[in-house]
Amino acid sequence: MEQQLILDDALIAKYDQSGPRYTSYPTAVQFHDGFTAENYATIARQTNASGRPLSLYFHIPFCDTICFYCACNKVATKDRSKGDEYLQRLYREIALQGELFDRDRPVEQLHWGGGTPTFISHAEMRQLMKVTGEHFHLLDNDQGEYSIEIDPREATAETVAVLRDIGFNRMSLGVQDFDPQVQKAVNRIQSEEETLAVLNAARAEGFRSVSIDLIYGLPHQTRESFSATLDRIIEVGPDRLSVFNYAHLPQIFKPQRRIEVNELPPPEVKLEILHMTVSKLADAGYVYIGMDHFARPDDELAVAQREGTLYRNFQGYSTHANCDLIGMGITSIGSVGNCYTQNIKELDAYYERIDAGQLPVFRGIELSKDDELRRDVITQLICHFALDFHAVEKRWNIDFKTYFGTELKSLQNMVEDGLLEISDAGIKVMPVGQMLIRNICMVFDAYLKDSKGQRFSKVI
Ligand SMILES: C[S@@+](CC[C@H](N)C(=O)[O-])C[C@H]1O[C@@H](n2cnc3c(N)ncnc32)[C@H](O)[C@@H]1O
Ligand code: SF4
Repeated sequence: MEQQLILDDALIAKYDQSGPRYTSYPTAVQFHDGFTAENYATIARQTNASGRPLSLYFHIPFCDTICFYCACNKVATKDRSKGDEYLQRLYREIALQGELFDRDRPVEQLHWGGGTPTFISHAEMRQLMKVTGEHFHLLDNDQGEYSIEIDPREATAETVAVLRDIGFNRMSLGVQDFDPQVQKAVNRIQSEEETLAVLNAARAEGFRSVSIDLIYGLPHQTRESFSATLDRIIEVGPDRLSVFNYAHLPQIFKPQRRIEVNELPPPEVKLEILHMTVSKLADAGYVYIGMDHFARPDDELAVAQREGTLYRNFQGYSTHANCDLIGMGITSIGSVGNCYTQNIKELDAYYERIDAGQLPVFRGIELSKDDELRRDVITQLICHFALDFHAVEKRWNIDFKTYFGTELKSLQNMVEDGLLEISDAGIKVMPVGQMLIRNICMVFDAYLKDSKGQRFSKVI
């Protein structure tokens, strides 16, 4: 079923609270340092019995200049030699991780994220993929989902050709907004020409899917200004679009303190922008995937959604549900077997650990059965806007209505507000509930009762 999104201002206002984005459950707030690199290594080795395919994430943290809105894990530097210092350690981490996993497990998914992955030179890009191939079984038939985040200011047509040559077939381009006043206020000056040059090169080189990142809620944005950006984007027709709600958390992300709060659009303007965006993208033929994502109906995410095979992990929505995800580089998160792990966040400490020949894991969590069950429920809801009680009962050997009696009772308010329907067979999220899917998932989150919520961004 293709999704049709309906926005109801009164309901959005009523339910607009801070909440997790559920790229993992439990969320990173629950990770603890009692979970060690040794715990991780043991679990990682055990997963070899399953022979499951692998998903590799590489974090390249450097950025030449900092965009004030940025909530990503990045390190500002103009010194390109920092890239080499970092890669030397990353290669060693690849070797350490590679030892844990059987070599015949295929890498179905691979992602370079940042920061700015194209901060490194073309030769370094080739070397990073070469070293990866020496320790993992990369697919050479273009069947993998190999993707990279690209800042168009840091890439040329030649970069795109190199990336295609070493195996990438998907990319996302950071754009945010084309309006010069908005770009100036957030310190991200990027011409349309720069963006289009990379997009056109990606098409010429045969990239299978090109996605564009936009953000609404940035300083000076209005319905009209963002509408002009969207018109330009729709004209060039990317396969996917992410339209993120600006998460303003200056107490956590220091560069955001340079954003003038009085220049931010008020909530009612953000809502106008969202209405305009949803209807413009629907008119242009884009399908709503969920959260902030839209795709053309022939894109594989839209196909996976129709076929009920969509999945969500740290890299967002995906068509590869059953991979063990190995995170490499500072701050990266892995999801292997029944655990989540996170690497050290600071460069110096990461280098020290690697130089001592140790895995740089600094925290994580081993999931209990209850965690795994709730993760399954949350994933089903967020990917399919529906939940089949019988399927969950069969997978987890429970009686749904007994196990989740309290949650089903808590959902009654949302049923009365028309966000969802509950029948004997399961839960169906209605079009007005889809934008509020985080709120629905939060009911199944066992940890939220103790959390204050300020670490999470708001829904709108
Ligand atoms: C790691 S960045 C993208 C890679 C590359 N450095 C770039 O900027 O083009 C991933 C995306 O996260 C989004 N993003 C960053 N900070 C955000 C924030 N505070 N709120 C919402 N989205 C944000 C932006 O759309 C950005 O393109
Ligand atoms: S948005 Fe991209 S380029 Fe800008 S600071 Fe964040 S990671 Fe760096």
